[in-house]
Amino acid sequence: MLESLKAIPPDPILGILAAFAKDTNPRKIDLGIGVYRDEEGNTPLLKSVVEAEKQMIAHQNSKSYLGPTGVPGFNSAMSRLVFGESNEAVAEGRIRTVQTPGGTGALRLAAELVKTASPTARVSASEPTWPNHLAIFPAAGLGMESYPYYDPASSSLRLDDMLTALRSKGPGDVVLFHACCHNPCGVSPDPAQWELITDVAAERGFLPIVDLAYQGFERGLEEDNLSVRLFTQKCPELIVTSSCSKNFAVYRDRVGAISVVASSAQKAADIETVIHALTRKNYSMPPAHGPAVIDILLQSAELTALWRTEVAGMRDRINGLRSELEEKIRARGVSRDFAFLRRQTGMFSFLGLNVAQVRRLREEFSIYTVDSARANIASFNGSNIDYFVDALAEILESPAA
Ligand SMILES: Cc1ncc(COP(=O)(O)O)c(C=O)c1O
Repeated sequence: MLESLKAIPPDPILGILAAFAKDTNPRKIDLGIGVYRDEEGNTPLLKSVVEAEKQMIAHQNSKSYLGPTGVPGFNSAMSRLVFGESNEAVAEGRIRTVQTPGGTGALRLAAELVKTASPTARVSASEPTWPNHLAIFPAAGLGMESYPYYDPASSSLRLDDMLTALRSKGPGDVVLFHACCHNPCGVSPDPAQWELITDVAAERGFLPIVDLAYQGFERGLEEDNLSVRLFTQKCPELIVTSSCSKNFAVYRDRVGAISVVASSAQKAADIETVIHALTRKNYSMPPAHGPAVIDILLQSAELTALWRTEVAGMRDRINGLRSELEEKIRARGVSRDFAFLRRQTGMFSFLGLNVAQVRRLREEFSIYTVDSARANIASFNGSNIDYFVDALAEILESPAA
């Protein structure tokens, strides 16, 4: 039977990683992979996480199964982080949060939850979106559509087109949003635009799913859950999929959560039992290590304060690099306007290069991005930014012979 299986080409990002690893140019730069990097090019452990992990190891006395809810303290701490400290829906018991293996695990459970509730529902995602969204929802048997989002000509949000598309949705439809730091384009709605978007959701009655993968990386931990709070205020139902990979830097520990807001506390409790049943047939029991560490961190005022500083440090570094890159490109005399780098947020932006230019960056300068020219801005540092700016100027100002 297995003879019929054919090799699947590697994910473009993994292909780039492999090519980058083989490249012997000492000046090579990887702008592809989506992890935060510090000035030394490392993806560091956070001090707050290391300390919480020490405490967790010192106190753990069993590795028996956790049960389907996972680490209860983690679930309630995540609920406060994702929905804000004094959210009415939390007080009313209308929100249930359950830990998942990463944000991806939460998205998969969200997809299965929708499929269970409404097998023919279609999920609409921004154009463009994180490519894995386009795999996860269909893998659970759901159809997908897209709504207008990013305008490459102006490197900004197509708000009017987006709102028009959302106005054509109704009860029975599902719309997926990125809460902040849109991956891949770096363009997010501002607070006034979120008000308009959430008003349309309330009017039209579709089910919003908010993917919160970069909380704290755009404007701040509280600012970045604005869309979640607005949807919760205005809509009776909402699903939020959150990831701890980036903001706690626990990528490989696979920590995330699914939160469901329902119309009543009883309905929320019912839905949680469906989540448990879905968990059971997917991976039986949730993993303990990462959530137990984050539980300790978020229950400690001291470690939480340290963590908040560390998140702010990552955010400030990325935003600083955005400004620095734009200034250096301008100072280098490149005629194209890169001011969008400052306006956009999070780790990613499209550089606005075509595939031939992406190839030249790779072949002539050992600078690696995916073909869409999405760049991870956190990959820049004092020792590679000037080299990149020179390469970019060369590519843009002197076309290939
Ligand atoms: C938009 C978006 N959603 C979800 C995820 C999932 O994160 P993870 O499964 O690593 O927690 C990512 C990771 O890159 C992402 O960019």
